[in-house]
Amino acid sequence: MQILTTIDDFRTARANARATGSLGLVPTMGHLHDGHLELVRHASAANGTVAVSIFVNPTQFGPDEDMLTYPRDVERDRVLLEEVGCDLLFYPPVEEMYPTGGVDIQVVPGKLAAVLEGVSRPGHFRGVATVVAKLFNIVQPERAYFGQKDGQQLVVIRQMVRDLDFPVEIVAVPTVREPDGLAMSSRNTYLSPDERSAATVLYRALMRAQELHLDGEHDAEVLRAAMSDVLASEPLAAVDYVSVADPETLEELVLVDSQAMVSLAVRIGGTRLIDNVLLA
Ligand code: PAF
Repeated sequence: MQILTTIDDFRTARANARATGSLGLVPTMGHLHDGHLELVRHASAANGTVAVSIFVNPTQFGPDEDMLTYPRDVERDRVLLEEVGCDLLFYPPVEEMYPTGGVDIQVVPGKLAAVLEGVSRPGHFRGVATVVAKLFNIVQPERAYFGQKDGQQLVVIRQMVRDLDFPVEIVAVPTVREPDGLAMSSRNTYLSPDERSAATVLYRALMRAQELHLDGEHDAEVLRAAMSDVLASEPLAAVDYVSVADPETLEELVLVDSQAMVSLAVRIGGTRLIDNVLLA
């Protein structure tokens, strides 16, 4: 695996990789877990070359968020990526991506970024879309892999690709979960043992909605209320939102008569966790 820290060096390595078919990109902020490695496995199965980027992108964090404490361990990440078959690791410092401290021209998502995560994290998806656009221009992947766990991010990026005509196929990879259902996330490392067991309430709430839907419940408000009841049973959980929305427009549904994205954001102690499932 080659490790490239500058855009020029990455482009040279990328040019040499052209001979080996398509390139699949897995954008990450590092501190990799099995959810990320699953993205790499998918990329590896479908492309001649796999590139992973590790960049803790400052522009997607709000002023009171965890940018400085976000877990980082690039040496461990390097070993894991070697094992799973990554060819090119792009690991730029902040000054390489933002030489003047930021960018004047940004990608500004509209309606899709104004709901759900966008309410608590204004500016988050602008930072995400802008850095992903930069990564697509630097890496020039044929395919890019994102986890379904960040469901809204996936919807925003798909729309960006459509609206701005990036020649990149976006591949969604199912959420990887711990045996008790907790979705894998770098932020799980913040949880104390008590918080870690409380955090299973997110999955339990999603499963309750899924069960009801399988039993024939189509009223979205009933599904939201059932999730809220499960979450209310956990004293350490403070709910930010529960949502049953159209998986493309992210508009809240009244009736689940075709597909829906059921999602939630919950604070467990000081850690804000998100998760979702798709209802078909
Ligand atoms: O999902 C993430 O880890 C980040 O939001 C991403 C897509 C790498 C952009 O910084």
